[in-house]
Amino acid sequence: MTEVLTITGLVRRFGGVTALAGVDLQLEKGQTRALIGPNGSGKSTLINCVSAVDQWDEGAIVVDGVPVRGRNSVAAARRGIARTFQTLRLFDDMTVLENVMVAMHHQRGYGVFSSVVLLPGYRRAETRMRARAQELLDRVGVGADADRVAGTLPYGHRRLVEIARALALDPSLLLLDEPAAGMNDTETRRLAELVSSLGDDDGLSILVVEHNMDFVASVASQVTVLDNGRIIAEGTPAEVREHPEVLQAYLGSGDIA
Ligand SMILES: Nc1ncnc2c1ncn2[C@@H]1O[C@H](COP(=O)(O)OP(=O)(O)O)[C@@H](O)[C@H]1O
Ligand SMILES: [Mg+2]
Repeated sequence: MTEVLTITGLVRRFGGVTALAGVDLQLEKGQTRALIGPNGSGKSTLINCVSAVDQWDEGAIVVDGVPVRGRNSVAAARRGIARTFQTLRLFDDMTVLENVMVAMHHQRGYGVFSSVVLLPGYRRAETRMRARAQELLDRVGVGADADRVAGTLPYGHRRLVEIARALALDPSLLLLDEPAAGMNDTETRRLAELVSSLGDDDGLSILVVEHNMDFVASVASQVTVLDNGRIIAEGTPAEVREHPEVLQAYLGSGDIA
């Protein structure tokens, strides 16, 4: 099988804190892998490195055969690496549709300038982008909210808009950082169906950080467990749940994953 993502020996230090202490991780094309671990174990740091939002100290990240360079997230997005953030990053004052269109602008390299002066072809492109944005919102289940101001949406819906924004980049690799955080049970179940379908029907390769083990078990074929910046277990959801080191890592932390 072809590897979409290959991480070798990844080390990231913040002053005296070693957030990632030599992580190796592979994701095969079309695979969904979950990344779990106690708070502070380095999950978001790993997502930040792969999406080139952050830099790292040692090791390599290769996506679709090409090395990722830290602090070059625009280039990474253009190469089909899309992500959502643990804390929402929508433009609250814009409509939901506009939020998705802005993500497309970044992808295609249309700056503010071309939209202001209406360069030839821009109108047609804009119409196409509007239709595509609506399609993506329908896909994630918030199509009816398209014209609402993003800041007025319930939290769970806003999380789905974030996913639509990520999909607007036409990604081959999708990174989701705690997408179910703040969602109720029904919303979480629907999200699991969406993520499964993005993998099964759209063939996306997905790395998802999530705390909810039922969610993890229903979307991911493989799970990687981080603790203190190191991988302590890897396997199917059922395997890692029974793993002694995993149980130990979560002891007293209150949450599994
Ligand atoms: N920008 C930063 N500056 C300093 N320390 C950071 C920064 N980002 C993360 N850390 C530290 O790195 C460790 C891993 O954090 P993080 O990757 O956010 O964990 P997780 O997402 O698994 O909860 C924590 O100790 C955290 O405090
Ligand atoms: Mg995190």
